[in-house]
Amino acid sequence: MSRKPLIAGNWKMNLNHLEAIAVVQKLAFLIDDKDFEAVDVAVIPPFTDIRSVQTLIDGDRLRLLFGAQDLSPKNSGAFTGDISGVMLAKLGCTFVIVGHSERREHHNEDDSIVNSKVKAALANGISPILCVGESAAIRAENGEVAHVISQLKAALSGITPAQVKKIVIAYEPIWAIGTGNVATPEDAQSMAQAIRAQISKSAGAEIGERLRILYGGSVKSGTIREIMAGADVDGALVGGASLEPEEFARIAKFHR
Ligand code: PGA
Repeated sequence: MSRKPLIAGNWKMNLNHLEAIAVVQKLAFLIDDKDFEAVDVAVIPPFTDIRSVQTLIDGDRLRLLFGAQDLSPKNSGAFTGDISGVMLAKLGCTFVIVGHSERREHHNEDDSIVNSKVKAALANGISPILCVGESAAIRAENGEVAHVISQLKAALSGITPAQVKKIVIAYEPIWAIGTGNVATPEDAQSMAQAIRAQISKSAGAEIGERLRILYGGSVKSGTIREIMAGADVDGALVGGASLEPEEFARIAKFHR
């Protein structure tokens, strides 16, 4: 079964809505139909940019996908500052990142919060990009596979196999994020393989085969091809390198 690769740009807390429009216009110019036939490409801007990005993409009928970086576990109510899956679905978000290590660290998001956010995304028809990954300390003790599998099991607790079909997993070793220390292609592949094996076990081989598994952590145009060579690696979640449209477009065109 062939899985369509996904290259997603996580802008983090960068680019205002005017800058977002300029970046999306450049991407629309640089990435063409031939690319979109081969690869799904998505931008994941801050909340304040999403409406502008949606308007441009819909108005110009661009094939670029978009999503959000977080969502509330709740659909509405007295949760000052939070944004719900209902709101993101109304904006046409295809994806929402859940469980990014920066949210786990700076917002104390534990596995049970991540699980409730995965459920909220699915309940609103949005595909979660579920992030998992180990710290340098865990890897130094060879605990990375056990750690990632335990994050995965907790995040997917109570999720049906049919729902797993909508999920994308991003393996993002914390030591590789924003550091310039990209994982070796072998490390990315072996973890992706372990993740797929776990999903095949829990949700069935067919769903395991369909699942898209991304690698994230210091991906650049110079390293994307070797990362994508791994049989179980189906794309990349790109942070820093997604802020510069020419560089992000080069990454999205890895297949050429
Ligand atoms: P990076 O970030 O590409 O800047 O390392 C990746 C991510 O955090 O999604």
